[in-house]
Amino acid sequence: MAELIETVKSFEKKPHYMSNLRTVLPNALRNAPFSLDSIKVDESWAFEHLTRKDTAYITHGYHRYPAKFIPQLAHRLIEEYTKEGDLVVDPFGGCGTTLVESKVMGRPSIAVDINPVAVLITTAKTTPIDPDKIEKEFSNLQNKLEAYNESTKVNVPEHERIDYWFKPEEKRKLAFIFTEISKIKDQDIKDFFFCGFSNILKNCSIWLQKSNKPTRDFEKTPSDPIKTFSRQIKMMLRGNARLFESLSEKDYLKVPSDVFCTDARTIPAKDNSVSLIVTSPPYVTSYEYADLHQLTALWLEYAKDLSDFRKRFIGTSYHNKKDLLLNSSIAENIQKELLKKDKKTAEEVSTYFSEMNQVFIEMKRMLKKGGKTCIVIGNTSLKGVEILNAEVFVEQLQNLGLKIADIIKREIPSKNLPSVRDEKTGKFASITDKNKIFAYPTEYILIMEK
Ligand SMILES: C[S@@+](CC[C@H](N)C(=O)[O-])C[C@H]1O[C@@H](n2cnc3c(N)ncnc32)[C@H](O)[C@@H]1O
Repeated sequence: MAELIETVKSFEKKPHYMSNLRTVLPNALRNAPFSLDSIKVDESWAFEHLTRKDTAYITHGYHRYPAKFIPQLAHRLIEEYTKEGDLVVDPFGGCGTTLVESKVMGRPSIAVDINPVAVLITTAKTTPIDPDKIEKEFSNLQNKLEAYNESTKVNVPEHERIDYWFKPEEKRKLAFIFTEISKIKDQDIKDFFFCGFSNILKNCSIWLQKSNKPTRDFEKTPSDPIKTFSRQIKMMLRGNARLFESLSEKDYLKVPSDVFCTDARTIPAKDNSVSLIVTSPPYVTSYEYADLHQLTALWLEYAKDLSDFRKRFIGTSYHNKKDLLLNSSIAENIQKELLKKDKKTAEEVSTYFSEMNQVFIEMKRMLKKGGKTCIVIGNTSLKGVEILNAEVFVEQLQNLGLKIADIIKREIPSKNLPSVRDEKTGKFASITDKNKIFAYPTEYILIMEK
């Protein structure tokens, strides 16, 4: 009852959406299945007016990354719920959107991601380098690359998977670029160039350009590695200069942003130390990040064994476990419905919800009292069963003792998300896929308080 009164009070402070949630609240508190459907879309969170240039400002455009959220969304949450100096964490850091925004706002931050490619990108994006220094390094590197010709001695890797994706000429040039970057001693500069190197691999390979799935396109003419690398680095140099300038102006150059390659259930932050978590978790059986980033993983030797690499990701279809604790009656109902259709999918989804519950335990541990966690998540459907991620997460978090502070429903402008899934497989599909259904043209920002 005390919990009920407290939650109602917290809603009363925010009359603008209270009417939307009235229908949700009582059931939610009884832990019975409930729906967030009745919440009205808040148009101010669509950020529809933003262009690609706006969302790629400073270092945000360094590297493509599936399902990254727009910086302005993270920015607004950080602005609303923290002040300068407060610690911000992202347990599913991805390409570092939360960390870049935290840094430009003077908030120290920590991210973890199980994907070493995400860690490389985040490190590069959050490490401002003196523009004169990096320009000089680039000019040295470019002189060496421009001197490349067919008789240049190159240590070309012998690797079956590299040969699977790259034709001999591109492989040779990439090996040359790779070797020259490896010779650089300064780690920040090396990370900067390796991040750029990573982002050109898809264009320089025979990976079907418009696909996120590992598919070869034997008709493709791969881009020239040396020219593409040069263009990529010039773009990054502009981003770095803007980041450096912006941080220098505000005296934020030394604000720490730490990123670790580890599991979201083992975050290196002290108990009760975090003011805000801003995150977008992986979806169940959607993107296979291990497959997607295999080109970088191959060149930078992040994963000797792809099948082992895959199993570490939450939401992957490559593992499922027994003895699951769902901590949600809604998740149990979803499991039951899925079991009627397909046992494997039921297991994958249950594993996902159980693992997410473990992540929420970790989030609660490190949050300060009164600290908030903002989780950006949409609902979807698999095998004809609605996968109510948002409802399940709210229920799990409530069962762990967190309270609803706000729930925002936002429209996702189509330019920002591949919001279609293949009806048969449930995986993200291209816009031209004939089995496509809409996956989540809207999503929620669940703001829960400890
Ligand atoms: C939707 S993406 C996050 C995107 C991020 N918000 C951004 O703007 O780039 C989800 C991330 O979760 C990561 N992930 C999956 N399983 C994980 C785990 N067990 N521990 C930590 N991170 C994990 C994936 O590698 C992926 O980067």
